[in-house]
Amino acid sequence: MAILITGGAGYIGSHTAVELLNSGYEIIVIDNFYNSSKTALERVKSITNKNFKFYEGDILDKDILNCIFSENKIDSVIHFAGLKAVGESSKIPLKYYENNVTGTITLCKVMAEHNCKKLVFSSSATVYGGNNVSPLKEEMPVGATTNPYGTSKYMIELILTDLQKSDSDFGICLLRYFNPIGAHESGLIGEDPNGIPNNLMPRITQTAVGKFPYLTVFGTDYDTHDGTGVRDYIHVVDLAKGHIKAVLKLQNTAGLFTYNLGTGTGYSVYDLVKAFEKASGLTIPCKVEKRRAGDIAVCYSDPSKAEKELNWKAEKTLDDMCADSYRWQKNNPNGYGK
Ligand code: NAD
Ligand code: UFG
Repeated sequence: MAILITGGAGYIGSHTAVELLNSGYEIIVIDNFYNSSKTALERVKSITNKNFKFYEGDILDKDILNCIFSENKIDSVIHFAGLKAVGESSKIPLKYYENNVTGTITLCKVMAEHNCKKLVFSSSATVYGGNNVSPLKEEMPVGATTNPYGTSKYMIELILTDLQKSDSDFGICLLRYFNPIGAHESGLIGEDPNGIPNNLMPRITQTAVGKFPYLTVFGTDYDTHDGTGVRDYIHVVDLAKGHIKAVLKLQNTAGLFTYNLGTGTGYSVYDLVKAFEKASGLTIPCKVEKRRAGDIAVCYSDPSKAEKELNWKAEKTLDDMCADSYRWQKNNPNGYGK
């Protein structure tokens, strides 16, 4: 029995593929390479020394999904495929809703038709919106999202909740990721954003390899220990391992389960810069600018539910995250060169 990984060539998907293969699972990947490269899949094979089936295609395409489920015995699906750029989502909202929401509905319809009813979904801390106070807990109200990307994740959570209510055979885990950074310790796979990165860690690593003269720090006037924004950075390999625990949870249990995947510790922009400088031996020049629209001061998780119910806990340190992010960027200054 295999696990289907949608978006398996992407940043989190490729790291999850490695962890699944290393744990002895059979995997099948579908990706349309909208935001990724075939090279990532080749590298997954070379890290694990294992092969797997791959379909190039779109989750909006019912025919290819039907073909995948007909040709293979699929036990569970880990659903990463989605568009994720917050700023872009406000410019092309219909594409975001179509890809993320319609894509998920299409996938679920085909799963149900083939009686595959175990789904692990990539949600985001963004569904907590700006009104809850950290540490964020799963039972807090969600939905005060401020951009189409975040709203698409919130909508999918609602849709999957209704699906599970309508068909109690479904087992669904909604995993709310905090801020994934880091890379596989081999330095062979990592985050490779298209164009100018929006997120902090890729911006730091690309500054480190000379692509930018300095890091722009968006605001030093927040109510935090040093005035910069605080986030819950989590190593992507820890995050990947959380998916295996979610798959295991669904082996014997139907139902709808929601888990935060974070470390529970918040670090500021300057904390991350300092840790990166220590890990790399470099200096990252910083230039302060005003706050970025839509940013909140503080966002970190209470990850205790995942520890209690999934027996999962993030293990890697901020130093590991920085060292691994830097190794990936130094070895691959142009990412996968896609
Ligand atoms: P990513 O862009 O690296 O990976 C997503 C993959 O899905 C890419 O390989 C892309 O080509 C593929 N894809 C997109 N639309 C597709 C479609 N219609 N059909 C087939 N393939 C498609 O992103 P990531 O960082 O690995 O994120 C994975 C998931 O986790 C996304 O759903 C994202 O929204 C969610 N998430 C990410 C973060 C983060 O900070 N990275 C935080 C919270 C949630
Ligand atoms: N920041 C800078 N300079 C930069 C980039 C970011 O100072 O060049 C700051 C931001 O202001 C923020 C912190 O670094 O305080 C983290 O910013 P990121 O863009 O890395 O991450 P966000 O927390 O804003 O957003 C991330 C994901 C979203 C997701 C959100 C909540 O990118 O997809 O977490 O889960 F919705």
